[in-house]
Amino acid sequence: MSRLIAVSNRVAQPTGNLKSAGGLAIGILAALQDHGGVWFGWNGKTTSGETGEPHIRQVGNITYATIDLNETAFEKYYNGFSNTSLWPVCHYLLGYFRYDRREYDEYRRVNTTFARKLLPLLQPDDIIWVHDYHLIPLASELRRAGVDNPIGFFLHVPFPDIEMLRVLPVYTQLLRCLCAYDVVGFHTPRDLAAFNEAVSQEEIGGLLKANRRNGDQTQCVDADVFPIGIDVDSCYALATDGRQSDNTQRMIHHLHDRNLIIGVDRLDYSKGLEERFCAVERLFRSYPENRGQVSFIQIAPKTRAGIRAYGDIRHALEQKAGQINGEFADIDWVPIRYLNRAFDRATLMEFFHEAKVGLVTPIRDGMNLVAKEFVAAQNPEDPGALVLSRLAGAAHELTDAVLVNPYDIDGVADGIQRALTMPLGERRERYAGMIEVLRRNDITAWRTRFVDALLRARARMASGA
Ligand code: G6P
Repeated sequence: MSRLIAVSNRVAQPTGNLKSAGGLAIGILAALQDHGGVWFGWNGKTTSGETGEPHIRQVGNITYATIDLNETAFEKYYNGFSNTSLWPVCHYLLGYFRYDRREYDEYRRVNTTFARKLLPLLQPDDIIWVHDYHLIPLASELRRAGVDNPIGFFLHVPFPDIEMLRVLPVYTQLLRCLCAYDVVGFHTPRDLAAFNEAVSQEEIGGLLKANRRNGDQTQCVDADVFPIGIDVDSCYALATDGRQSDNTQRMIHHLHDRNLIIGVDRLDYSKGLEERFCAVERLFRSYPENRGQVSFIQIAPKTRAGIRAYGDIRHALEQKAGQINGEFADIDWVPIRYLNRAFDRATLMEFFHEAKVGLVTPIRDGMNLVAKEFVAAQNPEDPGALVLSRLAGAAHELTDAVLVNPYDIDGVADGIQRALTMPLGERRERYAGMIEVLRRNDITAWRTRFVDALLRARARMASGA
């Protein structure tokens, strides 16, 4: 069996229990645990000197090979181009967008460094799977260094429409870099269509005229939809293994049999948290029968602290939560518990299991695995209901959720009320529909389909097609 080499900007530390990890880390880890392989990328540390040789650590069937990032790289490549240029563009949030040529240059330099450090670890039979927007140029760099293994790229965030992409002065270069991959994968058909349209633009020479899917033999990149899934049974097992954590016991104790609404997100402006808090406020205003009867817990661990917009959203949320609690709280009840910290996965699954409503309302999201995990953690006999943003990739699959537009504050409040009052029969039906989708397209299916596409790419290369 070929070795699978997963490359991503951030590598979750083997001992880190995935606290505050995004969907990418959870997905890659689950895929690698299943198949075995190497996980290469940044270890989250910065250094004042140059990036040294990778630190190698073997845990079970996974080899972790991680590098430090130089402080300039961290500032310009990570905080800068990746998270202040690409991230806002991919999430259609131009208010947060900034471009600086020096940051793009550093982005390219870091991709060259990733290629140089990865090169000695590669073996001829390996298949290479690169993840996310930080590493778009990596295949070009590896090819330049003589690597001829199959290389695939998976984008965990939305692929923006061409008119949005054009905001980036370097978008044609990035599209060319994407076409250096053998396989390019997206979460939804919408992302794939946007990519196809972008690469067929005349100004970049209609790169996709060379796509195999058009039946043209000179084609180079196999682009397709591979929606990421979860390990359904392991989520359910974590939620119900009977070893309830201390945090869960305390949470249940203080709930006093009230209905629990839960949200779990990285503290990111794309997650629609301000709008969500407003919707919860609207719920208590429009449906006052919920006052004293419903508690909302929002867990939002901090991320990307070096970027101002992330500090701003934190302050805005603290204020909003304070204002809502000030207005509606009673001696023995607070409407919102807003926790700026991470919990381990087992505790989160237990929280989901206890919740009557899962609130997942990003204003744009590639997939959103929290939505899937919430469903997987439910009691099939008495499941909670999911309120899900139509603008999350997950809404393409979880059509049995209560779908809402996250900008429509009244609409979200109505959606929550609908979920809170939904009859058991309807909750069971919706759950059955969603769990079926989750099982059909689980994490193993995601990994297998992508790896198979890479193996087909290798067979094509071997046959000279
Ligand atoms: C999203 C991105 C990932 C990223 C994660 C956490 O899920 O798609 O690439 O790793 O957020 O963000 P961070 O900047 O902390 O790695």
